[in-house]
Amino acid sequence: MNILGIGGYSHDSAAALVCDGQLVAAVAEERLTRVKHQGGVPRKAVQFCLDTAGITRDEVDHICCYMRPGRRLMSRIPYRLGKMFRAPSYSAGYIGYEILHNARYIAEMRSLRGKKTRLHFMEHHPAHAASSFLVSPFSSAALLSIDYVGEWASTWAGLGADSTITREWSANYPNSLGVLYTAITDYLGFARASDEYKVMGLASYGEPEFAQDFRWIVRRGLLGQYHIDMSWLQCHYLPGSRRGYMSHKFIKRFGPPRKRDEPIEARHRNIAASLQTVLEETVLYTAESVHNATGQSRLCLAGGVALNCSMNGRLLREGPFEEIFVQPAAGDDGIAIGAAFQKYYALAGKPREFEMQHAYWGPEFSNNAIKHFLDLAKLPYESPANVVERTADLLAEGKIVGWYQGRMEFGPRALGSRSILADPTRADMKDLINKYVKHREEFRPFAPSCLEERATEYFEGCTKSPFMLFVYRVKPEMRERVPAITHVDGTARVQTVNKVSNPRFYAVIEAFEKRRGVPMVLNTSFNVMGEPIVHTPADAVRCFYSTGMDALVMGDHVLLKN
Ligand SMILES: [Fe+2]
Repeated sequence: MNILGIGGYSHDSAAALVCDGQLVAAVAEERLTRVKHQGGVPRKAVQFCLDTAGITRDEVDHICCYMRPGRRLMSRIPYRLGKMFRAPSYSAGYIGYEILHNARYIAEMRSLRGKKTRLHFMEHHPAHAASSFLVSPFSSAALLSIDYVGEWASTWAGLGADSTITREWSANYPNSLGVLYTAITDYLGFARASDEYKVMGLASYGEPEFAQDFRWIVRRGLLGQYHIDMSWLQCHYLPGSRRGYMSHKFIKRFGPPRKRDEPIEARHRNIAASLQTVLEETVLYTAESVHNATGQSRLCLAGGVALNCSMNGRLLREGPFEEIFVQPAAGDDGIAIGAAFQKYYALAGKPREFEMQHAYWGPEFSNNAIKHFLDLAKLPYESPANVVERTADLLAEGKIVGWYQGRMEFGPRALGSRSILADPTRADMKDLINKYVKHREEFRPFAPSCLEERATEYFEGCTKSPFMLFVYRVKPEMRERVPAITHVDGTARVQTVNKVSNPRFYAVIEAFEKRRGVPMVLNTSFNVMGEPIVHTPADAVRCFYSTGMDALVMGDHVLLKN
């Protein structure tokens, strides 16, 4: 049985293919079209999945999409009608947009069908939860999905047992931690619905001076639910793009919003810290309640908010769950996997047999294809006898190395396939990469990729974190040894690297340790600010020559700059 999952449509579209209960391929459309957060129907991603499995569209039995359009319309239109008296033109425009958007969504998803394909529109949050639980190592777990909004729900709690998912409760828009986080992201002068991780990074530099104010904005309800006081926001009835997300009341209390090119002041840092603190407190409260209701010691977390790795780290440290699983594509892209597996188990009635142990489900280019490209482009390169040792040498010399190997990662993190690597023991490395390669905000930290067995030597309580979605405290005595990956608050967003999942990356880190004495490298995504992670060898070479990277290791071939 071949099931194609479609994640996202409004933004971050992706496709995944599950054949007889095994994940075969998954990729976000943005990587193939080179447009960040690409929405719409993911035609290129679908074609890649079919090509990987060697099947045609006619051999696809089911297509499972990330949202139910009927439910979305039936909940959103009455809400907008209720806002008519406050903002008549915006509300009317919104209703028109919703009708057209959903009609186009249905038509475009239909256009993907083959001769025998059946099309299914899945409920958003259960599919989010499925994207985590059904590929997790747990046979049963509590489930929590938190995002901006699905059809209408913004938070969804449930229970996963074997291959089934059941709902405990859900909370609806505009009571949404995702809405609040996006609204503050917009207020702080970053791009809404894509720069939330910058606010998370900025939070570490501030003090939660306004936490009590934010506790008034986010009030705790019964059974782990929460209530957002919408008098502080206006994006639920006015176009946020033109008038800002926060209401006059918020601006009176916290000052004017920051414009994109204005300097970041202590006030901005403290607002970010306060928001992050209250987000973590609220999710801890919700998790406690879900734990009590389900009696589970394990949690599967999903939804865009589950990409907040500071929150995840605190939930693991202070929360009631012994283990937490987050799938690498926790946002809407990852629903491609959840929707497909949810339908597969519902139809096949088989026990679970797939576990996602790595994120390498995307396209790859063979050594020959890379060599062919380099020869055609007349680029100088070397092909050392041992590319692992050569890479470790370059890293130990302090070089910034592009690392392009194997299948591309699914999800927003670079996990050792499309990465930029460097020496984490050099205190100046963070500034060097920011200056010469990434050109990004100085407050954003760089992450370590550490040998799995050695992670506990450096990071408190870190035994396994293959998807870089949890923040851990760097042990105080180790912080000076790895200054480039230790954030200002003494934490690090760790990826643990497993010998089985990525043997070549593991070998490079092992070889690097022999030279520099630490079992980890600095790892940041192979792209420049504003662009998706590189896809083809040509993308990688273009990025290499347009930035200050020193070396590029593609397959067995090494390009160097003088
Ligand atoms: Fe979502």
